Amino acid sequence: MMRCRYLTRVFWLLLLFTFLSLSISLAFQGASPLSQILSSLQNYPPPITDAWDSTSLETLKSQNLSHIPQGCRSFLFGPWTPTNILSSLPKSVQIHTPNSDPTVMSQLSLSVPSVISYLHYNEHLSTHRYLCSIESAARHNPNHLIVIHAKNVTDFEEQLKVWRKGIVRSVEERVKVVELDYGKYFRETPLWEWYQQGKHLKSRWVEQNLGNGYRLALLWHKGGAYMDLDIININRLDGLGRMLAKEDSGKINNAALQFPPKDAFVWDLMEEFVRKFNGMIWANNGPVAVTRTFRATCPASSLLLMQSPKNKNNTDPNAPDAPECTNLKILPSSVFYPIHFLRKGTFTDPWQKHCKLLGRMQSGSVGLHWWHKLVPDGTRIPREGFLGKVMEVHCPNVVRDYEGELKEGDGVKEREKEKEKGKMDLGKEPVVIRVPAQRPKVVKVVVKQDQRKV
Ligand SMILES: *[C@@H]1O[C@H](CO)[C@@H](O)[C@H](O)[C@H]1NC(C)=O
Ligand SMILES: *[C@@H]1O[C@H](CO)[C@@H](O)[C@H](O)[C@H]1NC(C)=O
Ligand SMILES: *[C@@H]1O[C@H](CO)[C@@H](O)[C@H](O)[C@H]1NC(C)=O
Repeated sequence: MMRCRYLTRVFWLLLLFTFLSLSISLAFQGASPLSQILSSLQNYPPPITDAWDSTSLETLKSQNLSHIPQGCRSFLFGPWTPTNILSSLPKSVQIHTPNSDPTVMSQLSLSVPSVISYLHYNEHLSTHRYLCSIESAARHNPNHLIVIHAKNVTDFEEQLKVWRKGIVRSVEERVKVVELDYGKYFRETPLWEWYQQGKHLKSRWVEQNLGNGYRLALLWHKGGAYMDLDIININRLDGLGRMLAKEDSGKINNAALQFPPKDAFVWDLMEEFVRKFNGMIWANNGPVAVTRTFRATCPASSLLLMQSPKNKNNTDPNAPDAPECTNLKILPSSVFYPIHFLRKGTFTDPWQKHCKLLGRMQSGSVGLHWWHKLVPDGTRIPREGFLGKVMEVHCPNVVRDYEGELKEGDGVKEREKEKEKGKMDLGKEPVVIRVPAQRPKVVKVVVKQDQRKV
């Protein structure tokens, strides 16, 4: 009886509310009131500012987690690093910032625009795994615009369709796909002439090398962060400033970079790219070019930082850093490359085998580079494996929308095609580092040719 009366009351209240909102909307707007109510509902739940939305959290909480070690639990449930990942790193992790000047530093950080750029240079998206990077970046960086430069915008948008429909607007609306336009960005940079002369065509990996140049030209013109599509965001980018990140003790990678527009060091990177371009050596124009540029431009810092003994004598110990080295952060490998590319097995191991690593990543990594070469499109990603769990936590919507494909492997045809073309040549890494020729701006650089493998 009581229950019946209660329900009736709720019914009348609802009816009254609907009537009131209908008439208010009609009176004030003269527009379709129902669509307005619906659109206001679409903005709910409120913007996601963390790795979680309530659904995925509930799914995980419903599992019995009491036996899970601490590192794994904090990877699942936080605490999340509130703003600046660098301040939460253990003391033992040294961030090298030559001649750090806090005031200049904060000005530089302010001048880095809140844009994260990606590059997709194939005609068709070969795997939805790449969308995980986009979703995780959009979730972790609520103030950033996410811009994908795609060769085929129509195709990329097509592949995003399901995902766009299923995710909250606050995330979805910050993801833009624009046309990949080499000419537009190479113009007015050292890359223009190189491109015009068709030097990029003399290469086994034409697109990869164009991509290596494109990210530099893009950062030169627009600034912001650039990340490869096989980097999953774990934490936000805030506070990183001008940065490069080491892949290991001897090499800086170019898969994650951040600079303000018109940064002198980015210009150096482009000059070095053109000067030593060799399309026949894998990575020569990517990570190796960045490492070379750093060694040549910032010799004093690289003596301190790139301490692999075999390289020590290649640089004059007295050569000074160029001015653009000031306040350039060289992040340790744990920030973007927590898993070295020689540790391929980690990605498919059961996730709970690596709780310490996951704990460290949760508090000290901004991204996880999963090396597309190591996990090519056809490979299976077990849901309870390391990479599967990272994806479940950081891009729950992509996992939900494309789970079958993510689990079973996909893009097999694309991979076969690439194999035929000899593009998937794993045997090409590691690579030869060549020490740069004399750099005009820096005095007293002693140069030796170093042909050894790294
Ligand atoms: C969770 O697992 C632990 C040990 O593995 C067990 O003691 C506990 O009763 C379980 N809790 C639930 C709610 O199932
Ligand atoms: C771009 O993608 C669309 C949709 O997948 C496809 O129909 C079209 O042929 C592609 N364009 C080119 C130039 O391949
Ligand atoms: C580096 O150079 C110095 C002086 O030229 C020499 O004494 C030293 O043995 C060299 N070190 C290595 C590791 O080659």
